[in-house]
Amino acid sequence: MTEPSTAAANAAAPTSTRPRVLSGMQPTDALHLGNYLGALRQWVARQDQQDALFCVVDLHALTVPEAVDPADLRHRSRAVAALYFACGLDPERNVVFLQSHVPEHAECSWILMCTTPLGWLYRMTQFKAKAEGRDSVGAGLLTYPVLQAADILLYDADEVPVGEDQVQHVELTRDIAIRFNRLFGDTFVLPKAVIPTSGARVMGLDDPTVKMSKSLAAERPGHAIGLLDDPKVLKKTIMSAVTDSGREFRPEHASPGVRNLIAILASLQGEEDTVVAERFVGRGYGDLKKSVLEAVLEAVTPIRERFEALMGDPAELDRILAQGADAARSRATSTLARVKAAVGVGT
Ligand code: AMP
Ligand code: TRP
Repeated sequence: MTEPSTAAANAAAPTSTRPRVLSGMQPTDALHLGNYLGALRQWVARQDQQDALFCVVDLHALTVPEAVDPADLRHRSRAVAALYFACGLDPERNVVFLQSHVPEHAECSWILMCTTPLGWLYRMTQFKAKAEGRDSVGAGLLTYPVLQAADILLYDADEVPVGEDQVQHVELTRDIAIRFNRLFGDTFVLPKAVIPTSGARVMGLDDPTVKMSKSLAAERPGHAIGLLDDPKVLKKTIMSAVTDSGREFRPEHASPGVRNLIAILASLQGEEDTVVAERFVGRGYGDLKKSVLEAVLEAVTPIRERFEALMGDPAELDRILAQGADAARSRATSTLARVKAAVGVGT
């Protein structure tokens, strides 16, 4: 697998100049190639360049309570952490933990909720999409981005590496921090979103007009390329990806489905879309799909093998996560003390 990093980027930077980084994913359904190309791969590629914390945001998974099965949530939270490690995150160089193991997130989130205007939350596209068509939703679905802001601000993060769909939430976090600092004095560092140059928005294979998502993956076979999918399933998904009525690749007429396949292949191979497109001019879509399948198998096979090994030793996984929670907590408590002192509580 080609990492989007250079030898220079891999040389360890001195600790004092490294940006502080925080990111996370929800422990809902199996992770897919969009999660990998949009987020995880850049977390791994830059792990020597940054002082990073990565959490599995299990409290965020409670915002759709109808979908919560407690035993399953517990299992998935650990599985997502194992996938972080399987993709190459090194627990010695990064702090990896479950959000609910650090209660300061929920406490900080309450204080931030009190300074966040409701209008800012109603405007979030993720809230609108998830609330659409429902008679009633929990308050947590609306205040979800405030908990996300607490995740980020508690660690004085400078950078938040995410896929494109999360940029709005990171900008909101920045606005929440600016407002708080104005009201109560300089307390929070202002973070910015960092999105990868390729793979920031991978589209569904069955419908290239919507982004590849965990929720659609759960409902529609053929939608997503799951990082843990069986090779036979991957073959079926990729070979039946939606293209168009043409037979061979013509860049000037490429439909969204064909462009998505080119973008996936280019991102996996660390090349520009145009360079990959050039190689396929005049060739059939079947060829393109076969190349995508090969590149996907090359990327995900070692991930799946490492994942299975990690899940086979739950005590070790729990030990690493407990260590991560301790490290995260010691940082979170000192920021929260600053926040509480600023507003006049807790003393
Ligand atoms: P989520 O699946 O919403 O928990 O997202 C976890 C991370 O993966 C976030 O940084 C998202 O921005 C990123 N992500 C999710 N779906 C995609 C996609 N289709 N393409 C690129 N990045 C994605
Ligand atoms: N909302 C993010 C998503 O759906 C997950 C998330 C929660 C997150 N807290 C975060 C991402 C903090 C980055 C930083 O993908």
